[in-house]
Amino acid sequence: MSERPYVIDTMISAKAIAARIEELSKEITAEYSDTDKLVVVGLLRGSFVFIADLVRELDLPIEVDFLEASSYGDSTESSREVRILKDLRGAIEGRDVLVVEDIVDTGHTLKHVTHLLNSRKPKRLNTIALLDKPSRREVNIRADWIGFEIPDEFVVGYGIDFAQRNRNLPYIGKVRFLADAE
Ligand code: IMP
Ligand code: MG
Repeated sequence: MSERPYVIDTMISAKAIAARIEELSKEITAEYSDTDKLVVVGLLRGSFVFIADLVRELDLPIEVDFLEASSYGDSTESSREVRILKDLRGAIEGRDVLVVEDIVDTGHTLKHVTHLLNSRKPKRLNTIALLDKPSRREVNIRADWIGFEIPDEFVVGYGIDFAQRNRNLPYIGKVRFLADAE
């Protein structure tokens, strides 16, 4: 990737994220109040911080599993192809499942993953995304719960990367490239 210099402007503070997760967790806890055990599926790698905070607010018996799908190279452009790089460890047939995604952008990843997991006949499958960029959508899909709708900006932090960097920022920031010195 290019080494073009950039700065990160705060878009959503750590405090605002925590407050929103508290609200969403109440809704999810109510939705699954009758579950014997909810399988919370994190999509690697971008959702790892979100899922960690989310599950600690859920007042439900849960399991955690992970799935890795690739739709991105180390760039800011999404590709249409979605491949499963790492599948779930556990079976989900007849189970309650919540898929946790960092961002829904074009929608290809979430569409592919929900289609795949639904083919395994879960009892109930819902989706949550921390961020949604509706203006970028190429396929008709929406997460059942959304943390924040954001404009078409490239964001980092709170688990989300730019070429594997900036995942450890505690807030969501937007990448702003500095003008080329040419
Ligand atoms: P989609 O398949 O286009 O919806 O892409 C979803 C994936 O692209 C997300 O899970 C992210 O990993 C990645 N992505 C989309 N927008 C951004 C962004 O602004 N920053 C970093 N990664 C992003
Ligand atoms: Mg992702």
